[in-house]
Amino acid sequence: MGHERFGLFIWVWSVLCLVCLSSGFNPTDNYLIDCGSSTNTTVGGRVFMGDNLASKYLSSSQSVLASTSKSDPSTDYSTLYQTARILTSVSKFTFPIGRKGRHWIRLYFYPFVYTSYNMNLANFAVSTQNHVLLSNFSVTTDVVKEFSVNLTSDKLVLTFTPSDNSFAFLNALEVVSVPDELIIDDATRLSTNQNFLGLLWQALETVYRVNMGGPMISFENDTLGRTWVPDQSYLVQKNLATNVSNIEAVKYPQDGATPDTAPKTVYGTCTRMNSEGDPNSNFNITWEFDVDPGFQYLVRFHFCDIVSKSLNQLYFNLYIGYVIACQPVDLSVLATNQLAVALYMDYVVASNTNNKLRVSVGPSPLHGTYPDAILNGLEIMKMNNSDGSLSGLGSVASDSSAKKKVGVIVGVSIAAAFAVVLAAFLFVCNRRRRLARQGLSKTWIPLSINGGNSHTMGSKYSNVTTASINSNLGYRFPFVAVQEATNNFDESWVIGIGGFGKVYKGVLNDGTVAVKRGNPKSQQGLAEFRTEIEMLSQFRHRHLVSLIGYCDERNEMILIYEYMENGTLKSHLYGSGLPSLSWKQRLEICIGAARGLHYLHTGYAKAVIHRDVKSANILLDENLMAKVADFGLSKTGPEIDQTHVSTAVKGSFGYLDPEYFRRQQLTEKSDVYSFGVVLFEILCARPVIDPTLPREMVNLAEWAMKWQKKGQLEQIIDPALVGKIRPDSLRKFGETAEKCLADFGVDRPSMGDVLWNLEYAFQLEEAVIQGDPDENSTNMIGELSPQVNNFGQHDDRSVSTTPFEVSSVDDLSGVSMSKVFSQLVKSEGR
Ligand SMILES: *[C@@H]1O[C@H](CO)[C@@H](O)[C@H](O)[C@H]1NC(C)=O
Ligand SMILES: *[C@@H]1O[C@H](CO)[C@@H](O)[C@H](O)[C@H]1NC(C)=O
Ligand SMILES: *[C@@H]1O[C@H](CO)[C@@H](O)[C@H](O)[C@H]1NC(C)=O
Ligand SMILES: *[C@@H]1O[C@H](CO)[C@@H](O)[C@H](O)[C@H]1NC(C)=O
Ligand SMILES: *[C@@H]1O[C@H](CO)[C@@H](O)[C@H](O)[C@H]1NC(C)=O
Ligand SMILES: *[C@@H]1O[C@H](CO)[C@@H](O)[C@H](O)[C@H]1NC(C)=O
Ligand SMILES: *[C@@H]1O[C@H](CO)[C@@H](O)[C@H](O)[C@H]1NC(C)=O
Repeated sequence: MGHERFGLFIWVWSVLCLVCLSSGFNPTDNYLIDCGSSTNTTVGGRVFMGDNLASKYLSSSQSVLASTSKSDPSTDYSTLYQTARILTSVSKFTFPIGRKGRHWIRLYFYPFVYTSYNMNLANFAVSTQNHVLLSNFSVTTDVVKEFSVNLTSDKLVLTFTPSDNSFAFLNALEVVSVPDELIIDDATRLSTNQNFLGLLWQALETVYRVNMGGPMISFENDTLGRTWVPDQSYLVQKNLATNVSNIEAVKYPQDGATPDTAPKTVYGTCTRMNSEGDPNSNFNITWEFDVDPGFQYLVRFHFCDIVSKSLNQLYFNLYIGYVIACQPVDLSVLATNQLAVALYMDYVVASNTNNKLRVSVGPSPLHGTYPDAILNGLEIMKMNNSDGSLSGLGSVASDSSAKKKVGVIVGVSIAAAFAVVLAAFLFVCNRRRRLARQGLSKTWIPLSINGGNSHTMGSKYSNVTTASINSNLGYRFPFVAVQEATNNFDESWVIGIGGFGKVYKGVLNDGTVAVKRGNPKSQQGLAEFRTEIEMLSQFRHRHLVSLIGYCDERNEMILIYEYMENGTLKSHLYGSGLPSLSWKQRLEICIGAARGLHYLHTGYAKAVIHRDVKSANILLDENLMAKVADFGLSKTGPEIDQTHVSTAVKGSFGYLDPEYFRRQQLTEKSDVYSFGVVLFEILCARPVIDPTLPREMVNLAEWAMKWQKKGQLEQIIDPALVGKIRPDSLRKFGETAEKCLADFGVDRPSMGDVLWNLEYAFQLEEAVIQGDPDENSTNMIGELSPQVNNFGQHDDRSVSTTPFEVSSVDDLSGVSMSKVFSQLVKSEGR
């Protein structure tokens, strides 16, 4: 189980290649034969043995050694092309295999006329024991065919079969071990009925191997003897693209891509969007390749951010055909916050009826980023069909036997295929992020390129998936699957209890998830449930918790999220006995959460207001990276012509914007207020409302502001931090929180300003900034651009402190108080 839920077809795996650094790969099996030649031939430092020595591998009743003096000196292999072996009957090359696993089989063809044999007219088939490599094959120009086949027996038999009345020929031949890491598949992630899709079993034919934005890389300059061709001739519109080169900058990660994946000369050049300095540029760069319809293709993208000056500048979308493969590609994150790190991503593109395969990169609509997109390298590999064939001949597609093997496979309509694919991406982007930490993730999914014809999607639950299409929301899980994942909602698996319901840990094959199960009876809950799915389906950001799916069967309201290893921020601040966080960790968490909120406020055409910002809604992953969660109360923010959104006051005690409470006017600045409270909470490590304390201390916001205004904030900070914060950093932080808590929204900074100031506080802590700290600390927040909001007269300031008398409750801040408020504030509207 597990994979099926995500629309199958998705595997992600990490490469464990700690040892194989650039030492160079030494192939165990290395048969290089210069067919027809009586002497050895050295090409690019590799010795191709003469045919006289190779004859022990060949069994053929009839063959002819041919030679020409006219081989084209412009090809790299001209010496190999001077001779050939002509095979006029079925002939077999048999090679002992020293190390099982993937091997390259490279066949070199250069047709010429020798006595009565015109090789341009030759027609034949080539196969291994398990796969047809070529059939009905003819060539009229020089060609190298490269296959990669996983050899599982101790010998390889390569059979050449001439067509009726014709013959076969060959100029040179290679059978060479491939490093295991090059094409891998994490078999442990595959459930039994999915193995048929495992790449391990696939024979591949390299159909394109392209170096974007750079010259041809010949086999001599590639550790594995591959040739990379320039991308110019595949660009649909050359004028939209420009070249960038910075080969020295390229770094290989600890694990993941190696020089064997692709050389630096590939990663160090790219084709980039030619936006000509126009920040409104909006176009894709597209490459188009001819492919054989009816086959699946493994498409490998090579990326390396050699264009950015700093991290988090480059976000772009990646398309295969007309379908989004990943949005946004965030190389800073994939490269674990380094620039110029070599990365690759694998996708499997489902077979289609189209004979063109298009690949595009284009700008991401992520707010505030300059339109830019790059691609460094691309490999397109044809996968064998269900008959084990890589050739158009033989039977293609529509194979009922294979379908049975996979269990239920559903032919889905255009729309369905599309939605399933999108659902798959949702998960993939999520997974990729998780794996990026480990150095590299590889992901593959078959895409329907043209989305047209009936498309096979293998999944036990495909039928369920298709049911959710009209809602266009997220991935819908069957209830039984959720039950199974949570051990039937085992109470001992509960990891949290919120206003909405209980949160369980869930285990899917792919990993752990968090399962939030709402109380089915609450109408209010239903609205929040829908909001949450809608919001999270729209927003993808590394500082927002990702939704993996949902379940609404049987009146259930279940949301399935990525699992956040370290739980809530709140639990790390007080009350749980967890070790206390360092100041830097806290600042990083603040910055992460601020990024998430900033994105919500600005990342979309319409601002989204979270409305329930609190430490219990900021979750931490295993690296303590912060992600904002719980979008149940979110609302789309003010329209241009509207200054506020009127709605029943909702939110959590202690965090609530007093202005919002007074006026029921909702703007982004309400989130800023709540975030300011969170900042003080992080600094002081105490509940925002603590009724057990003396009256003036009950409300943290009020209490902290008092000390901040006196300039003595250090008096009330978390004892664990005393003496451990640089005064400048603390001052900056205190000022930022203070600004957030301004009585009136107009006086508060935007989330962007807050983010900026927190980053500044972080730098001050790192002491990377020299100069006069006083000057620094006044410049930052001072000039806030006035907002559109015009809230009229500023009366009623007294209300801005403790809005409620709280008596017998320990800590209300953890609970969404929607119910309480709807009683206090008389239902919806004003
Ligand atoms: C040709 O190459 C083979 C191995 O590839 C080697 O054993 C042989 O000595 C070479 N012959 C000559 C003449 O160099
Ligand atoms: C073999 O290929 C040729 C074109 O290269 C095509 O015309 C012919 O129909 C093919 N034969 C078969 C049996 O498919
Ligand atoms: C080759 O296939 C076998 C299974 O037959 C698998 O165990 C092995 O990992 C594969 N090797 C590679 C390099 O794909
Ligand atoms: C290999 O690379 C070097 C330097 O990058 C270059 O001078 C040489 O011409 C290349 N060789 C081939 C065959 O392209
Ligand atoms: C990019 O590089 C290729 C080959 O290196 C060259 O043909 C092409 O003209 C270059 N394009 C631009 C826009 O400079
Ligand atoms: C980029 O290509 C995709 C897929 O073809 C398309 O949906 C999208 O609108 C294109 N974007 C631009 C800016 O042309
Ligand atoms: C490719 O061939 C293998 C047999 O070597 C087979 O198991 C696999 O299912 C084939 N792939 C597809 C996509 O049918």
